[in-house]
Amino acid sequence: MNNFLKIGHRGAKAHVAENTLESIQKALEIGVDMIEIDVHKCASGELWVIHDFTLDRTTNGSGEIAKRTAEELKKLRIEGQFKIPLLTEVLELIEGKCLINIELKGLNTAPPVCKLVKEKIASSKWEYADFIISSFQKNELFEVRKNDQEIPIAVLSKASVPEAIELGKRLKASAIHPSLGIITRDNTKLSQENGFKINVWTVNEREDMQRMIDFGVDGIISDYPDRLHNPVLNL
Ligand code: G3P
Ligand code: CA
Repeated sequence: MNNFLKIGHRGAKAHVAENTLESIQKALEIGVDMIEIDVHKCASGELWVIHDFTLDRTTNGSGEIAKRTAEELKKLRIEGQFKIPLLTEVLELIEGKCLINIELKGLNTAPPVCKLVKEKIASSKWEYADFIISSFQKNELFEVRKNDQEIPIAVLSKASVPEAIELGKRLKASAIHPSLGIITRDNTKLSQENGFKINVWTVNEREDMQRMIDFGVDGIISDYPDRLHNPVLNL
């Protein structure tokens, strides 16, 4: 299938610790078209690639990221060895190799992320079409659109595709990112008829991958992006 996106979730989460440079490197070696990562802002203003609002699950630290400084976060380790990457480091690693889906997790991440994206577009190989900014938080997405008319936006949803479509229209979004649990053949078609790409998450089982491909989705976000290369898939 032309233009189908194989998207690595948090890098290649099933293979190397999520949202690390090493996990992203693994996804690049697998040969993904896009990498999905999560972003938070810390107390000193830097943007970090990490999923949770707190440090406890994935690092040897504890407490809220939003209350820690960059100096504190730099010292922490994931699985005893990996560092929490800055968004700038991730962009440097990925530049020119694949597309990126930046999920805005933390509050008030839209303005600094937009600023960084625009700086990168002005000064490097990055182009608008290389980015998709997504979020479950409407406010962050409206803030993205207020900051910039061109940055591609995706509406994340685990509740309702039709509601995501309506929100997507207001945001001039490019894509809908529904969870596997709510996607159907009909709402895939509805999204596409309304002009949105549809990239589904998190699809790890091969039979689900094939079912999504049969629905005609535009991309699959997977912890196992290697499975998207499986020749049994009828792309
Ligand atoms: O962006 C798709 C997916 O990552 C959203 O859920 O919790 O894995 O960030 P979560
Ligand atoms: Ca995510």
